[in-house]
Amino acid sequence: MKGIILAGGHSTRLYPVTRSISKQLLGVYDKPMVYYPLTTLMMAGVTEFLIITRPDESELFKRLLGDGSHWGLSIVYAIQDQPRGLADAFIVGEKFVDGDPVALILGDNIFYGEGLRQIIRQPSEQADGACVFAYYVNDPERYGVVDFDTDGRVLNLEEKPKVPKSSYAVTGLYFYDSQVCDIVKDLEPSARGELEITSVNNVYLDAGQLRVEVFGRGIAWLDTGTHKALLDASNFVATIEHRQGLKIACPEEIAYRLGLIDEEQLLHLAHAMAATEYAEYLTRLVQQERRYLSF
Ligand code: DAU
Repeated sequence: MKGIILAGGHSTRLYPVTRSISKQLLGVYDKPMVYYPLTTLMMAGVTEFLIITRPDESELFKRLLGDGSHWGLSIVYAIQDQPRGLADAFIVGEKFVDGDPVALILGDNIFYGEGLRQIIRQPSEQADGACVFAYYVNDPERYGVVDFDTDGRVLNLEEKPKVPKSSYAVTGLYFYDSQVCDIVKDLEPSARGELEITSVNNVYLDAGQLRVEVFGRGIAWLDTGTHKALLDASNFVATIEHRQGLKIACPEEIAYRLGLIDEEQLLHLAHAMAATEYAEYLTRLVQQERRYLSF
């Protein structure tokens, strides 16, 4: 399965912080925001990535992530010249997808929690249909919302409904089969002028091909939409990392643990991080006992 990280948009809600730099490059505690969605897809088993950015940001992402080979990945880039909606990722990325199953993750979505890897690994191995994830929130009207019947069957999906039918938001992580690019070609822009990902999910739902998995209380899906939410996300990551001495969303570590890079490559990457705590952490990984070699 291939992976697309959608990292465009203008993020006007975070002005002036995002006036000159993309939101997805801002730091979330000790690493750039885009590391979080990147590592989420790495844990789902994705090694081939397309990063979609604004035209003026592409070089910055390339400087940060390169071609991915240092992490045992392949990373290529494409430009979205206008924020035409999340589903536009499959028009911009059609060549990259090239008829394969594909995962889409929003470049500002942060997931963390026990069992996350097992939950997201399964849809990445499934060739047919679509799979999205629902999360109980206290402000569902800000999101795509999924309604279930009493047997847990999905009844409908609505984008930012004024009166939400449930408290389950659809998160920014989506798995699709090879039909997705053709489905998007037939979409009309919504009232707000965007190609909505919720419309794509509704096509799969109507065809009986949409699976909605619920992320339970043990999973954190963090918001990064406001200055306060960003600070809270940084504090959350800092709290867990300091308590455990283990990093969240460290691509070097995940690449090493997945066997995408070896000890020598990890030490080389550590060296490139200069005299930082991050470098020390990477160096420590190769000295650690094997019992820590699980996620
Ligand atoms: O975060 C999950 C939610 O994401 C879902 O529940 C909604 O169904 C989905 O529509 C989306 O809602 P948002 O209002 O959060 O989407 P937003 O316009 O903020 O875009 C999300 C990210 O994607 C943001 O970092 C900017 C980027 N983006 C957005 C658009 C519309 C792009 O790169 N290109 C775009 O065209």
